[in-house]
Amino acid sequence: MRIYIIGAGVIGRTHAEAAKKLSEPIQLRAADTNPAALEAFCSQFPETIGFTNVEEMLNSETAQNDDIVIICTPPTAHFDPTRLSIESGRHVLCEKPLAMNGSQAQEMVQLAEKHNRLLGCCSVRFKGMPHMEAVKKVIKSGSLGEIYHVTFVNKWERSRSGIEYQPASRWFLNSTLSGGGVLMDWGPYDFASLNDILNPTSIEINTAWTAKPQTEIDPLDTPFDVETHVGAFMTFSSGNHPIHVHYERASCTHGESYARAEIEGTLGSLRWTPFDSRQPVFLRYDKHGQIVEEQVETGPRSEYTIFDNPLLHFYRKVKGLESHANVNQQALNNFLCLTSIYTTAETGQKQLIAMVQKGVTL
Ligand SMILES: NC(=O)c1ccc[n+]([C@@H]2O[C@H](COP(=O)([O-])OP(=O)(O)OC[C@H]3O[C@@H](n4cnc5c(N)ncnc54)[C@H](O)[C@@H]3O)[C@@H](O)[C@H]2O)c1
Repeated sequence: MRIYIIGAGVIGRTHAEAAKKLSEPIQLRAADTNPAALEAFCSQFPETIGFTNVEEMLNSETAQNDDIVIICTPPTAHFDPTRLSIESGRHVLCEKPLAMNGSQAQEMVQLAEKHNRLLGCCSVRFKGMPHMEAVKKVIKSGSLGEIYHVTFVNKWERSRSGIEYQPASRWFLNSTLSGGGVLMDWGPYDFASLNDILNPTSIEINTAWTAKPQTEIDPLDTPFDVETHVGAFMTFSSGNHPIHVHYERASCTHGESYARAEIEGTLGSLRWTPFDSRQPVFLRYDKHGQIVEEQVETGPRSEYTIFDNPLLHFYRKVKGLESHANVNQQALNNFLCLTSIYTTAETGQKQLIAMVQKGVTL
């Protein structure tokens, strides 16, 4: 089958590596408007047919039913290549964040539905990991009782995309190119994970804030207007009781690094380190008035890494197999969590997201 990569940069190369691990031979095509980036990509993956024009690549051959296009450009360039690819009759796996704003994302999903194609988002990197599945299994068993509180906090002291991480990609710092800061960069993973675990029918953003702590190396030669610290208090509804969620994410803080995911219920709690599947998951509950802490069995590590997962999940979905992919409405639901947090932070107004469930049949 054929995989088309649009944007032959850092993550484009990661997907090309992942393509080698799929269970059938892959023919690679890549398009990048920067000839130097395309050349570097083609020398690393010499079997690739390269193009400097996206439309030329999409029109170079008739679409087949299982063709997958992966959009690996900066967020400002997600919409147009997605539209062109869907209209060419191909399924699209788009890098995170799905779009620059809610209306773009909505239009992308409507286009996918109209053309009977799948639009997936790469925010599912951590779905299906053994520790995530173990957490879901404990929740399903009912041993936590009624879940009432979740803490989901990931704070790094100095890890800004475009400065400490991948300093050559300055676009991360400019909201007109990136759509936003650490929330657009890492929030997609956070909400794909939280929504997978808690499976809410609606989410209310009660309060939210963003901040941009300053450092002595903040760049002055490039626009830098995105937040590097964000937080929200939310209510997740599913069933008949609310779950209060404290969310925080920082790529720069003068506070201390801190990563913790904790689910508290009336009968027990679960705690793990988000996104670090090597760390254990702990279950705590009461015995004779005392806390008991046990390590949860998380099963063997997968042969696939978090970098393989987005393509692997989407490939399985396209092939009609059981999959952890988030496509169409589900991808939109997750994205609207991010834009709603920005709206609450900017306006002080609560936002309600209806987590509309729509199946996809091809
Ligand atoms: N770098 C990472 O670790 C990482 C991880 C996960 C997701 N992502 C996401 O992947 C996307 C790309 O990030 P990256 O780090 O690979 O960026 P990058 O800067 O390394 O590469 C982007 C590439 O896109 C090309 N490009 C820009 N506009 C284009 C257009 N209109 N048509 C064709 N090519 C175009 C650029 O020339 C460049 O080669 C972003 O949405 C980012 O959030 C990146």
